[in-house]
Amino acid sequence: MQKNIPFNKPYMTGKELFYISQAHFNGCLAGDGPFTKKSHLWLEESISCKKALLTHSCTAALEMSALLLDLSEGDEVIMPSYTFVSTANAFVLRGAKPVFVDIREDTLNIDENLIAEAITSKTKAIVPVHYAGVSCEMDTIMELANLNGLSVVEDAAQGIGASYKGRPLGSIGSMGTLSFHETKNVISGEGGALLVNDENLIESAEIIREKGTDRSRFMQGLVDKYTWRSEGSSFLPGELTAAFLFAQLIEERTITSKRLSMWEFYHENIKCYEDSGFLRRPYVPLGCEHNAHMYYILLDSSKMRDKVLAFMTEQGIGVVFHYVPLHSSPAGEAFGASSGALDKTNDLSSRLLRLPLWIGLSEEDQRRVIEVLGEALTSAHK
Ligand SMILES: Cc1ncc(COP(=O)(O)O)c(C=O)c1O
Repeated sequence: MQKNIPFNKPYMTGKELFYISQAHFNGCLAGDGPFTKKSHLWLEESISCKKALLTHSCTAALEMSALLLDLSEGDEVIMPSYTFVSTANAFVLRGAKPVFVDIREDTLNIDENLIAEAITSKTKAIVPVHYAGVSCEMDTIMELANLNGLSVVEDAAQGIGASYKGRPLGSIGSMGTLSFHETKNVISGEGGALLVNDENLIESAEIIREKGTDRSRFMQGLVDKYTWRSEGSSFLPGELTAAFLFAQLIEERTITSKRLSMWEFYHENIKCYEDSGFLRRPYVPLGCEHNAHMYYILLDSSKMRDKVLAFMTEQGIGVVFHYVPLHSSPAGEAFGASSGALDKTNDLSSRLLRLPLWIGLSEEDQRRVIEVLGEALTSAHK
């Protein structure tokens, strides 16, 4: 009897409980204690952003970015439809309309060449999503944004440790957002961060994150009392989450390099299936340093994807697909609009399959995944 191989298993560095016990010992459990500060510093130094602020999730960081953009009813925000719901939801909550643009065939990222035709007088921002930790074409996107006076919020939920032409993801737009959900490379169960690159937004970001008060400036000794200053909410995590996260952040390079080795192993050993015309492997453009967040394959058709998925699941291999394109979901239809046909989004999302990729997966496990994939392909093509 072969053992089952799950799709994901959260990786623990081994230092999490040690740091949590230190936080316990410090007796400081609310937000913005020593471990939050250490995590902020780590993020600011390694991502080169002007300000990093931990949040409960990437969803929360996106919601903060939407508040910071000061959107009004009917404003438009350009983004791919091929993304997680939070990318759009954060802006819908502020009354804005997500405008969906098709993706590139090669990277599955927003097609930068289709953004210009989606821009109207109501457009306020572009939200590129760095799918699978592979950067969007940021030079073109930033040029378009600057030309049209738009903000750029990078949804780098999957992008920690990855870069574009040497610039860490999340450090290029006026803001960036990270996820530390347990399915990501660096985790804290639930968790995220807002990265602020536009210095003019830092003070407002700190206020929004602290229930709309200037408590953060008070704690830094910059004001002698704190008061309600603007709209806001409680976006900051407690110290136990930050302590767990810090144990992971300091291991980010090791985590990324281990994942990259596993990614390369799949890539090399699945090449024969691509050469035989059974599937397509992921593509990483020149200048994009990725972080091996996921390994996906693209089958010939959705029917083939479903057959391979069913076969591999039956054999105990955890394979999954995502996303249901937002423009075709009930909320996407109600709140969003599409710019042009979203043919590639519809097509690619129906053919994609993700393979297990987590630290602890042995070479033997990966060989088994590849072998079962081969059997699934043979069976599906009969
Ligand atoms: C592209 C993208 N944006 C946002 C999110 C939301 O992240 P979180 O679960 O940390 O809120 C995810 C989560 O998977 C995601 O993949």
